[in-house]
Amino acid sequence: AAPTAPDATQCVPSKIDDGSPLQCCPPKPSQFVDFKLPKVNPKQLRLRPAAHLVDDKYLAKYSKALALMKALPDSDPRSFKQQADVHCAYCNGGYHQVGLPNLEFQVHGSWLFFPFHRAYLYFYERILGKLIDDPTFSIPYWNWDHPDGMYMPSMFNNQNSPFFDAIRDQNHLPPTLMNLSYDGPDTVSNLTNEQQIAQNLTIMYKQMVSNAKKPTLFLGASYRAGDPVNPGPGTLETQPHGTVHNWTGNPPPNTPFWEDMGNFYSAARDPIFYAHHGNVDRTWSIWKDISRKHKDFKDKDFLNSYFYFYDENAQPVKIFVKDVLDTKKLGYDYQPMDLPWLKSRP
Ligand code: C2O
Repeated sequence: AAPTAPDATQCVPSKIDDGSPLQCCPPKPSQFVDFKLPKVNPKQLRLRPAAHLVDDKYLAKYSKALALMKALPDSDPRSFKQQADVHCAYCNGGYHQVGLPNLEFQVHGSWLFFPFHRAYLYFYERILGKLIDDPTFSIPYWNWDHPDGMYMPSMFNNQNSPFFDAIRDQNHLPPTLMNLSYDGPDTVSNLTNEQQIAQNLTIMYKQMVSNAKKPTLFLGASYRAGDPVNPGPGTLETQPHGTVHNWTGNPPPNTPFWEDMGNFYSAARDPIFYAHHGNVDRTWSIWKDISRKHKDFKDKDFLNSYFYFYDENAQPVKIFVKDVLDTKKLGYDYQPMDLPWLKSRP
């Protein structure tokens, strides 16, 4: 077997649900450099804050950075348009596996899920930091595993901010409590808020502890060169990752295909995507912290799989899974928060 990777020189239009093509490819790169870990002072990690706790000063900074990113020309791989299209290209058939032109490359439904999105957010964050000339800038995380964070964070709900997206599910705006098992309008539950919080915490416990005792269970099934897409997602990818996407996006008939958050091609057009994935990324670190038995795969095919991104200098970079296993080596960590679900064994 061998690691899998996208052939970045051969991006083709992605396909959306009705089969129509959509151009999501970044500018064709001529040459890549290998990713180098940043120089990190372990005492000065960038601390990603919980989105529901950020202050005005932080919001002003992130708004400015995101507005600048949105103002970049669409042709710039660092523009918000192209940052969003990264998800579309990597998740809707924009790439095939290197050397295997008939085999689609896909970052969901396998052990590539966590590493790919970590690298994606890393560059998104570095680009924002560069735009405001603040290398300490860090993106917020949507703390949906904590009762205080089980709402759409208010920062995303300000129409006059660059964080706004008008086509989210209007039934799920604050103060609606999240349902981490939400699967569509037909699954709306009649629980009281207290019961819903308890259910959410139990879901977290199952996805992080009882159903996630082995790397394959939590991180997802192996995915190597030559394998068809979606060998199997890990616990967290399905729920709450997938359910929060659907809870935030707007179901048909309001939109054609659950845009924005509820569909791969459009999810990252909603700025809340990057906060949602901040928390997904955080759960990977927490999973490894809560038990000595929770470890990343040592499998070379995992470690040597790789992706391509444009970095903050618009330089195309090749980054390996083995580069992203430790957030502290990437220079960031998460604002600590208690984990009430640890005590929510069903
Ligand atoms: Cu690439 Cu939340 O999905």
